[in-house]
Amino acid sequence: MPLDYDPFSDAAMRDPFPLYAAMRAEGRPHFIPQYNAWALARFADVWEASMHHEADVTWTAGALPTQLLLDEPVPHAFTTMDAPDHRKWRGVVRREYTPEGVRAHESRIRTLVREVLEPLVARGSFDLYSDYANRVFCLNSGYNLGLPREDAISWRALIDDMIHRDRGQRGSSERNQRAAAELGGYLAEYVQMLRRHPDRASGHTAAYMNTEIDGRRLDDQDMVNLLMNFLIVGSETTPMVCAGALYYLERHPAQKAAVLADHALVQQLFLETARFDQPTNMLCRRAVRDFTLGGADISTGQDLLYIYASANRDEAEFERADEFDIFRRHERDLTYGAGGHKCLGMHLATMAGVIVIEEFLKAAGDYAVLVEECERAYGEHLSGFLHVPVQTTTKREA
Ligand code: HEM
Repeated sequence: MPLDYDPFSDAAMRDPFPLYAAMRAEGRPHFIPQYNAWALARFADVWEASMHHEADVTWTAGALPTQLLLDEPVPHAFTTMDAPDHRKWRGVVRREYTPEGVRAHESRIRTLVREVLEPLVARGSFDLYSDYANRVFCLNSGYNLGLPREDAISWRALIDDMIHRDRGQRGSSERNQRAAAELGGYLAEYVQMLRRHPDRASGHTAAYMNTEIDGRRLDDQDMVNLLMNFLIVGSETTPMVCAGALYYLERHPAQKAAVLADHALVQQLFLETARFDQPTNMLCRRAVRDFTLGGADISTGQDLLYIYASANRDEAEFERADEFDIFRRHERDLTYGAGGHKCLGMHLATMAGVIVIEEFLKAAGDYAVLVEECERAYGEHLSGFLHVPVQTTTKREA
């Protein structure tokens, strides 16, 4: 029977990994006739498309499956621009995200992490994702944007509502759209307030407000789109990896013992979790030329699903790909994508993710994840854990 893959089906939104394995076994990109789209499930295909076909696809038709496959609106921001515009807009904050740019924030982030963690560890039981890691990354992306602290937290709650999927939901619901409109409204008011008081703008907000691109200042809608984008990407995926890392350690006691004994292994732990349980799941592009990829003839106008979560589990690229192993060595992966749109925040994600896990281990020592109560994301866009309850025995190291 031909494989029936639909990214919005209940099976794919609940647990796509068996479908991904079946598509990889087909040995070529998988065509989805109802969307006139190709699913790239193999590592080699996503890599090849990212590295060698940038000029053959456009980002302007959208990046999310709902935008390309279901024609939902596409906000104008650099994540949905092609070169050369993409490079100019991304370039405004690029320096902040180099390894040196990120290192300049290390001690501030460590202080923030300790501040969030201390009362939680004193409590003894909390949720690693929502109470801890997600809160840290919300506050940090709020800081990067120059937002008031409490707004960063409440606006994140709206983002959760924007991406929430009910069982069987296909595309955006009224709840998703209401949350998006509400957040857009708050951000618009915030931008207007900054227009009246430019001295109050800081971080990326100030950088974008004070710049000219091709001789033009960014308008209010540009600013709202950028703020929303940074708020989402800066707080969405990394906390899932942090919470997932501590979950997977719980499931692999020998690796847990090794990490508890030597915190220098935390970076390997973070990166293996991001490979094994890639949180971005997939992003999409549209072909603007005919080209051949992995034995498939792609035609102009067809959509391509770059399924990172599947590519990172490809046996043709990773030995024992379905095994979680923090000691594995590999040359390359697609955790942060590849090519000109490669994740801008990758150095920040790795550095801050490591700090979040390290500080937790220092403060909590051994810990117990309530594995039966953990919950994974449901939907087409994200993959990974959204609820990881934990119990700690208080312990603080210097
Ligand atoms: C473990 C955490 C993260 C993962 C797995 C991840 C993954 C990705 C992936 C796969 C892409 C698409 C790359 C491509 O198209 O080739 C991307 C893009 C992006 N990421 Fe991340 N990301 C993470 C954290 C972050 C953080 C903390 C930020 C903070 C600002 C961030 C900002 C961005 C931006 C702005 C883009 C769009 C880049 C562009 O279009 O030029 N990411 N990310």
